[in-house]
Amino acid sequence: MADPTRPAEERDRIVLRLYEQLLEIEQRLIPTGMHVFGRPNAQTERADMLRMIASFDRPEMGFRSLPGQIAAGLGFPEYQVLMGESATSGERLLQRELVDAILRSAIEKLLAEDGGIEEAASLLARESSIPTEDSTRMLAFLIDLDRQLGINHEVDELMRALRGEYIEPGPGGDLVQNPKILPTGRNTHAVNPYAVPSRVAFQKSQETIGRLLNRCLEERGRYPETIGMVIWGMDNIKTQGEGVAQALLLMGVVPKRDGMNRVTDVEIIPLETLGRPRIDVVFVLSGIFRDLFGTTMELLDKAARKVAGLDEPPEVNFLRKHVQQAQREGMSWCDAATRLFSNAPGNYGTNVNFMVIGGHWDRTEQIGDLFVTRKCFAYGRGLDGDPARTLMDKALSRVEVTYQNLDNAEIGITDVDHYFEYLGGLTQAVEQRTVERPATYVCDSLSPLVKIRSLNETVRLEVRTKLLNPKWYGGMLKHGFSGVAEIEHHVSNTFGWSATAGAVDDWIYSEIANTYVVDEAMRQRLAELNPHATRSLAQRLLEAHGRGFWAAQQSVLDHLHNALDKLEDHLEGVNGQASRASQGL
Ligand code: BEZ
Ligand code: MG
Repeated sequence: MADPTRPAEERDRIVLRLYEQLLEIEQRLIPTGMHVFGRPNAQTERADMLRMIASFDRPEMGFRSLPGQIAAGLGFPEYQVLMGESATSGERLLQRELVDAILRSAIEKLLAEDGGIEEAASLLARESSIPTEDSTRMLAFLIDLDRQLGINHEVDELMRALRGEYIEPGPGGDLVQNPKILPTGRNTHAVNPYAVPSRVAFQKSQETIGRLLNRCLEERGRYPETIGMVIWGMDNIKTQGEGVAQALLLMGVVPKRDGMNRVTDVEIIPLETLGRPRIDVVFVLSGIFRDLFGTTMELLDKAARKVAGLDEPPEVNFLRKHVQQAQREGMSWCDAATRLFSNAPGNYGTNVNFMVIGGHWDRTEQIGDLFVTRKCFAYGRGLDGDPARTLMDKALSRVEVTYQNLDNAEIGITDVDHYFEYLGGLTQAVEQRTVERPATYVCDSLSPLVKIRSLNETVRLEVRTKLLNPKWYGGMLKHGFSGVAEIEHHVSNTFGWSATAGAVDDWIYSEIANTYVVDEAMRQRLAELNPHATRSLAQRLLEAHGRGFWAAQQSVLDHLHNALDKLEDHLEGVNGQASRASQGL
């Protein structure tokens, strides 16, 4: 409701900020259905994908992003500046919208029946004065990607694989970050760990870490002394080591390359150049990372020990400060400088997802304890997955911020249960070992402007763009049974963020309940397509209420109970018929 007592400027500021948030949701690349093996993407999805791909600079190919070229052609500031300032400046917002509109029409023209490279290039020249020779290379690259997105040999290649024939290899990864993954249906290969972090990953990470630490400074008034960081294998494959680069930067070191361009050591950034304290980093590494990136594990360990050994004052070297504190408490230097924790050798995952989804916990401490039980194996110099529970408890007791780098346009923090099992599990474990819940941030490097968001902000964005977005659930419902199961997984994974990190607002559960259960037509549709998943969804919402994560209105609870009763009857009917049929009755 408009508040007449608010000054007009304040009202304008709020409207602008709101508008910018809506734009962010609108522009996000949202999967609108599942991949069907063997089936190429539809034309509209391809246009969205190409727009996103065109929004990134491609230094390796020697051309700038299309929004970058358009903004320059129009004489506007850099597109990143337009994005960054559009929440506070009406002029920047209009400029950003104009750039986005021109990009949209150029891609439409590129893909239209009567369009093509020349037509799109002349549109760009006409509307934003980009010389056609500048835009043509990017447009040719995009049209080639479109062609590759439109073909799909997955079934043929699977048949060849089953016959034991040779399958051509190709890189794995995220299409936006590495378009060379096309065509699909090849034998995915991963990464050369000695190339990690790549120069591009390292350069990008400087901005990311700057933003992360600025956000911490704004919210806490000082730098965090210790950050607990989740590092996964897949992300570091896809980004050529952005997570690793970010961790090195936090500690204030840069990768050092040998004569063969292999990253084998680190160099210390002098404090005068760094301009801030060295942050202590406690690493939680996935089993996959441990297996794939042995040399990178050594690198991270070497970095932590080098930084701990620097003769620097405690107020500018938090790692050294904490190592010395632990030594004063009787710990050996080697133990006190241990920062790498993962599963026992040959073991994977935290099992927090199974505990949470299965409802196998009474007190949240059990979640954090399970996390530590699974992850308290130390790696690094002289350590090869040795059990180190006390060390990990101690390390976690200093953590003020938990963090993970998100790298992937297709999988967000509610798409799979692994994000909450890791980042949520870590946050829960830290909360119990410190006086207060740590601040949790994720880096979203999916958009052309690197963004640091709090966990709560990320959950809101994720839920608005997926579970509460008719475009998203419409796409899922086209898959019938599996689509409803997918919707239910998202609800459960959202619940996982309540259980582990208390990161889900009340309104989120209310809106989910309204969308899927209170809406009678939708409830019936779900129940027809997949009654089991629909029942689980309703039960999960009731569990959220029962565990105190959601203060639901009584009328909504009544709807949920009613829906469950109907589903039970329906399922009993079905099961009854099935069992009678199986008994030949
Ligand atoms: C990983 O890439 O390291 C990873 C993937 C899925 C779950 C956990 C970790
Ligand atoms: Mg899994």
